Amino acid sequence: MDYKNYFLNCRESYKNKKPYLSSFYENPVRVIPHNFFTKETKDYLLDLSKNIKREFDTGKHKLGNISGIKNFWPYALPINKTCEQLIPYLEETFYGCNLFVDKVYIYRTQKIEIKKDSYLWHHDNNPNEIIKIIIYLNEVNQFNSPFEYLADENNRGMLAKCTRLGPNNWEPAPNDGRLEDEVKNLIKYKNCSGKKLIGKQFTACAFSNNSIHRVNPIIKGYRDVLNIRVKPTISKPSIYLSKKWTSSFGVSGAVDPDPEKDWQYYNKKSNLRLLKEIYLNILLKKLKNKIKIIKGNIFKYFFKNI
Ligand SMILES: [Fe+2]
Repeated sequence: MDYKNYFLNCRESYKNKKPYLSSFYENPVRVIPHNFFTKETKDYLLDLSKNIKREFDTGKHKLGNISGIKNFWPYALPINKTCEQLIPYLEETFYGCNLFVDKVYIYRTQKIEIKKDSYLWHHDNNPNEIIKIIIYLNEVNQFNSPFEYLADENNRGMLAKCTRLGPNNWEPAPNDGRLEDEVKNLIKYKNCSGKKLIGKQFTACAFSNNSIHRVNPIIKGYRDVLNIRVKPTISKPSIYLSKKWTSSFGVSGAVDPDPEKDWQYYNKKSNLRLLKEIYLNILLKKLKNKIKIIKGNIFKYFFKNI
């Protein structure tokens, strides 16, 4: 089954209010309304942003072109609290189905010498049904690395052609998904334009990973980002992120070609691994006891025969 069909199944079993399916693909970039987050969520995010700033200011998280937090789990509470407000909103207004969080990235943009990778116009080339939500942890203006997406003449984001659709259609993107020349032509001849996401602390945007986008370089200041990636699922998880199904840096950014491997699949897999570990521990304990008894018997035998 490919991602689109699985997404349709997820929409079918979703009983709440649903947006039109066509709008999901025709309007793939959604800026989250200004003042969307409640005071409670903002307090959690404020606490998170202070801690993240402190961590990056010490300079201990350098990962190549970006500074990224490898282990975000100490911050699971504020991220989950943010998801509790954000994800139901995306389910009802964007997807029309249940979601779970498969990735969390927290990073700080580094100053760069030459524009490459995410600084060039590109699409990520995971299936279209994979959405990322970026939340700025500090105020972002035109000088401190705003996220930018390509918009059509109606100011809507634009999807690039995805070459990863499901288990039987899983090819790498031409030119590794970089689209510099194509975008130049679209801006020149098709009335398209780049839209920079600029705003106060906690400005947020949800976008299909295949909408054409780029990061702008840092000219002055810094930019810390919380990036949450979601996937459709038939049944709602009791918690949005879990060590069983949410990963970060260190695990490939490509999703599994099989869309049916949702949070329940990883939950079962993790429980089975846990059961195996428990069973092996019991066996090991029994074996140790047996060795103890045998050692004791050998000792007794020699003691008797001295
Ligand atoms: Fe990207």
